[in-house]
Amino acid sequence: MGPLSAPPYTLHITWKELLLTASLLIFWNPPTTAQVTIEAQPTKVSEGKDVLLLVHNLPQNLTGYSWYKGQIMDLQHYITAYTIDTEMIVFGPAYSGRERVYSNASLLIQNVTKNDTGSYTIQITKRGDETKGVTGHFTLYLEIPKPYISSSNLNPKEGTETVILSCDPDTQDVSYLWWINGQRLPISPQVKEPSENRILILGNVTRNDTGPYECEIWDQVDSTPSDPVTLDVLYGPHIPSIFSSSPYYRSGEKLYLYCLADSNPPAEYSWTVNGKFLQSGQELSIREITAKHSGIYGCSARNSATGSESSAFKTIKVSGKWIPASLAIGF
Ligand SMILES: *[C@@H]1O[C@H](CO)[C@@H](O)[C@H](O)[C@H]1NC(C)=O
Ligand SMILES: *[C@@H]1O[C@H](CO)[C@@H](O)[C@H](O)[C@H]1NC(C)=O
Ligand SMILES: *[C@@H]1O[C@H](CO)[C@@H](O)[C@H](O)[C@H]1NC(C)=O
Ligand SMILES: *[C@@H]1O[C@H](CO)[C@@H](O)[C@H](O)[C@H]1NC(C)=O
Ligand SMILES: *[C@@H]1O[C@H](CO)[C@@H](O)[C@H](O)[C@H]1NC(C)=O
Ligand SMILES: *[C@@H]1O[C@H](CO)[C@@H](O)[C@H](O)[C@H]1NC(C)=O
Repeated sequence: MGPLSAPPYTLHITWKELLLTASLLIFWNPPTTAQVTIEAQPTKVSEGKDVLLLVHNLPQNLTGYSWYKGQIMDLQHYITAYTIDTEMIVFGPAYSGRERVYSNASLLIQNVTKNDTGSYTIQITKRGDETKGVTGHFTLYLEIPKPYISSSNLNPKEGTETVILSCDPDTQDVSYLWWINGQRLPISPQVKEPSENRILILGNVTRNDTGPYECEIWDQVDSTPSDPVTLDVLYGPHIPSIFSSSPYYRSGEKLYLYCLADSNPPAEYSWTVNGKFLQSGQELSIREITAKHSGIYGCSARNSATGSESSAFKTIKVSGKWIPASLAIGF
């Protein structure tokens, strides 16, 4: 065997999730030969499923192929081999009983386990030249688990409550990113574990913290986002505003008042006149008013989610019948 041209790194995969992703990471072969490629089918494998490592563009005139677990072609890592002339399959110490080599050099790994993660090497032996092989490296990766957001509270109250969002599961050797309203959240001092970024602490939330949150898990090759989780910050009601259809009211006219207070969720409204309950609802309408309807109109806005209430008042003075200005002159 000639010197190995394995790339100078090895990946250590220590993830807890038992899903595997197969992907072609590195391929090496001498520049003078055709591009031998290895393709995993399917590219993402979960535990218990099968993966086929397909070998494409095999050179002519081969005597056989050997598969190794890892990047070292020694006996210890020797899984299986196929000899073309004799159609013989040989098994090595690294054979688990779940691998099968085909006459076209492809390797089937059945019932994939977490233990199958790592790289695979195929050695292709040419006729009359035993010392030169073609080597492809293949790495099985654990699939990144789809993260999900756990929240201490999705409906916090503004100005008092702190929200802790956590991106789960806690996975090793990955990084976490957060998105709010589709914007990437800068890594700020709010982040409890800057190295991991898994926990997001929103201290003393404001309404501006409202929106969809997503977290994303990244590894060396891939990323997976969570489903969004919407934070809805409760606030208010603020002091209401009372709008009226007219600044002055005269007998016989219609009185119309409208009350609005900023509040999340929207406030429930009620009206009083001179301190006495009149009706509930955001609008107050009296068809034909008389001087008796004069008084101090109060609008009360209540937010049952925050438990707060806020009121505003407006004095309505109903004057006598309307007199045309021309007739009024001279009085
Ligand atoms: C090789 O053989 C396997 C098993 O018969 C088959 O599934 C695969 O498509 C073949 N082709 C290549 C390119 O490996
Ligand atoms: C295959 O190998 C034999 C013996 O080394 C050689 O005579 C022949 O030309 C080779 N054929 C091809 C297609 O490379
Ligand atoms: C797959 O492997 C697991 C344990 O590694 C075993 O319990 C199960 O029976 C195997 N399934 C098949 C279909 O071989
Ligand atoms: C995983 O592989 C190692 C060697 O590669 C072996 O010693 C160990 O028993 C395997 N574990 C399982 C659960 O197959
Ligand atoms: C929380 O924020 C509000 C304003 O949004 C502020 O009035 C209040 O003092 C803050 N509370 C704490 C404990 O920081
Ligand atoms: C929310 O953001 C707006 C615009 O950036 C800002 O004017 C406002 O003061 C913020 N409100 C709170 C409660 O932080």
